[in-house]
Amino acid sequence: MLLYLFLIISSFSITFADTSADQPKFDRSHETISVVVGKRALLPCYVSIQDANNNNNGNNPFKIIWMKLNNSSILTMEDRAINGDPRISLLHAYADEWNLQIDDIDEDDAGIYRCVINTGIYKTLTLDVKVPPKIIDELTTEPYPPPIRSGSNYTIKCYAHGKPMPKIRIISYDQTDNAKIISDQNEVILYNVSRHTRRRYECIASNSYPPDVARSFQLTIQYAPELTLALISETNDELTSSLLFIDSSQHEIRLKCRVLMNPLDKIYWMKDNNKLINDYHIHQYVSIYMENYIIAELVIKDFSTNDQGEYTCTASNILGTHSKSIQLIATLTTTTTSTTSSSSTTMQLSTSRLIISRRKRPKHTRTTTISQREYYRSTEILREMTISSSQGK
Ligand SMILES: *[C@@H]1O[C@H](CO)[C@@H](O)[C@H](O)[C@H]1NC(C)=O
Ligand SMILES: *[C@@H]1O[C@H](CO)[C@@H](O)[C@H](O)[C@H]1NC(C)=O
Ligand SMILES: *[C@@H]1O[C@H](CO)[C@@H](O)[C@H](O)[C@H]1NC(C)=O
Ligand SMILES: *[C@@H]1O[C@H](CO)[C@@H](O)[C@H](O)[C@H]1NC(C)=O
Repeated sequence: MLLYLFLIISSFSITFADTSADQPKFDRSHETISVVVGKRALLPCYVSIQDANNNNNGNNPFKIIWMKLNNSSILTMEDRAINGDPRISLLHAYADEWNLQIDDIDEDDAGIYRCVINTGIYKTLTLDVKVPPKIIDELTTEPYPPPIRSGSNYTIKCYAHGKPMPKIRIISYDQTDNAKIISDQNEVILYNVSRHTRRRYECIASNSYPPDVARSFQLTIQYAPELTLALISETNDELTSSLLFIDSSQHEIRLKCRVLMNPLDKIYWMKDNNKLINDYHIHQYVSIYMENYIIAELVIKDFSTNDQGEYTCTASNILGTHSKSIQLIATLTTTTTSTTSSSSTTMQLSTSRLIISRRKRPKHTRTTTISQREYYRSTEILREMTISSSQGK
């Protein structure tokens, strides 16, 4: 096979030497042909044989080869493709046309091609292959990266391949889907990440050869519990005082401990440093709102002097533990007996610790910081759980 190739090439060289007189009309301008990857390229080579008409009666006396200069491989000889690549063919529909056709162009086809006529003259073409952008997965942040701890810096990365080199835009979205371009570089650093850091990002790569490509990122940010206490009333206002006087004529009082934390972990109430258990007149409920917002509610029925004391709500997760306390004092005058005053301490108080099982993040839920009032209004949306207090643990 090689020998065969060698023979035709050398016979070709001989004809080079032989022919000298009738120079064909030959367009020798250097052309650049641009083709998008996957498409078909047509490299024109036009050899006019007007002189030959007389002598050869339509038989073209000239021989043409196409070669690729980068690796000097010969692609076609006369009217045949000879390099074994089925994508390559010679279009010789008319006597003076010797066009090279390459189907299903790939990036390696880029380079310099030469249509050579056996008189020694040639035409050179540059084949420029355009490649639409494509995200380089190994260098680009994954769509759902592992959780990021608050206080750390996080780098969002986005790299794309393409020809010409794609331009990158990194966009962030706030809770209401307002987009903002935050970078035109491949990487953007989010400093000192916190619960307030935006979670949703998108990277778009474009290079004027469509389609543009995009990659979305959804960050999960872990932060220590932040909590507020509220006494249920018309307003649901946050308690600003650490001391609260309760009129014992009230049928029941409700304390709400609102907690934001990620991951969700433990929340519990204590009274005077003892864990509270549910009994006939004390109930604890936990409601989970959205993903990272919980309300642990404490209901005390028929508040009496026995119930006076310091109530503390504590929330903890791997990033920290936080507590808030309120002192409840009964203001009613007459009927309370002094015998019950020590009952709260002698009672065998046991753990009623609530452990909220971690739920799988719903795919498209956005982790956002909605104001507490908004959460409050959505009370009905999510499930309500009753604390199961495990006695004597
Ligand atoms: C030279 O280029 C042709 C056409 O692209 C290709 O088929 C061939 O493998 C290349 N040869 C070498 C040695 O790179
Ligand atoms: C072919 O060679 C030309 C110049 O010699 C260079 O610009 C081009 O990048 C090369 N193409 C390939 C595919 O090697
Ligand atoms: C975050 O980046 C800033 C600026 O480069 C640096 O000073 C700080 O130490 C980094 N923080 C962490 C947690 O690495
Ligand atoms: C990081 O942000 C927190 C608030 O989210 C702030 O208290 C702290 O000072 C910041 N740290 C740095 C190094 O900027």
